Amino acid sequence: MEKLDIVDVIRTKRDGGRLSPEQIAWTVDAYTRGVVKDEQMAALAMAIFLRGMDRQEVSQWTQAMIDSGEKMDFSVLSRPTADKHSTGGVGDKTTLPLAPLVASFGVAVPQLSGRGLGHTGGTLDKLESIPGWRADLSNAEILHQLGDGSGAVICAAGAGLAPADKKLYALRDITSTVDCLPLIASSIMSKKIAEGTGSLVLDVKVGSGAFMKDLDSARDLARAMVDLGQDAGVRTFAFLTDMSTPLGLKVGNALEVAESVEVLAGGGPADVVELTLALARKMLEMAGQSDVDVEAALKDGRAMDRWRTMIREQGGDPDAPLPRARHTHEVLAPGDGVLERLDALAVGVASWRLGAGRAVKEDPVQAGAGIEIHAKPGDRVRKGQALLTLHTDDPWRFERALEALEGSLTVGQGPVPAHSVVLGHVQ
Ligand code: URA
Repeated sequence: MEKLDIVDVIRTKRDGGRLSPEQIAWTVDAYTRGVVKDEQMAALAMAIFLRGMDRQEVSQWTQAMIDSGEKMDFSVLSRPTADKHSTGGVGDKTTLPLAPLVASFGVAVPQLSGRGLGHTGGTLDKLESIPGWRADLSNAEILHQLGDGSGAVICAAGAGLAPADKKLYALRDITSTVDCLPLIASSIMSKKIAEGTGSLVLDVKVGSGAFMKDLDSARDLARAMVDLGQDAGVRTFAFLTDMSTPLGLKVGNALEVAESVEVLAGGGPADVVELTLALARKMLEMAGQSDVDVEAALKDGRAMDRWRTMIREQGGDPDAPLPRARHTHEVLAPGDGVLERLDALAVGVASWRLGAGRAVKEDPVQAGAGIEIHAKPGDRVRKGQALLTLHTDDPWRFERALEALEGSLTVGQGPVPAHSVVLGHVQ
């Protein structure tokens, strides 16, 4: 006999009431056990979407999701741990250079990551374009890599970590309840807190390619997540960063690995380098290292050495050529002038339609698919110049990708005010 009835819980939230700690703990647990059915949880998620949750409810919901599974314990490591999480964007490959960069200063980086769904790319999908690389590691392998190996690990979060969130996230995805602040904050933070990192830097994206389209809602999400982290004893800081246009010049799995390697070699696009350095400095500061020359580790090969070790530790060959798509198509500038706008969401959707992303969880992704960007907002362009190169193995995909790009770029007379990719922070 269950101690509560889910119909009462749904009704409480549907009518704008506050869920009690007991209701929350029981609901999340009963959903994980399969007693609360998907259709009932879908109704509750929609009620939460429409009615919201207050700070205490979000905190209790997050704790219930953590309690649904195991917690990792990095206290056996002799190094401090620091992690970062991005709320997801287009061309955001910073995790790849960041993890080995931070590890090169002796801080362990446990990056338990996910796969892409919809227009935002997934870190694991990107790394899987490296021949031989494997995402699934045991807890013992993770601990070994962090303690005695490269010090950085980017791998799949095991099925045991916040299993309630795994079920609920998949359900939200098919019931239009993903873009809901309390559900996003508790979903992300339950996994990060269960992962057991000592400090956490959040990269909350703002703009067309992000969940949060404007600075105020991104700040609210950042505030909620920072509060959840601090309440759970994890030092947490959030950057608010621009996602109105793609980050860097490459979008897609192997393409983004190639750009990350450029950054690790001391080059790469200015915005990717700026964000990688800002995140690395903050992660190191929170792990107790304030006065370090982070840039030097990109220039002198220390971060690259860590990257190569990390990739090899997970079965990958850092020297193997990356897959390339079989077909390309160029998008040309419609006139002379200044590129005023290149919309992140449109580029993300186009890249997804080219085969870089998946529509449902089981879909395969194409390693070589994606988009190369030849001009960014603020750049002067000439009529007929290639602005984008689309890559795919299936030429029939070009038509739908081009449809997604319609109206996504504007060439005008400018100027476009230059701004930093970092728009603000919450601590
Ligand atoms: N990423 C997550 O892990 N959960 C969300 O709800 C949104 C983004």
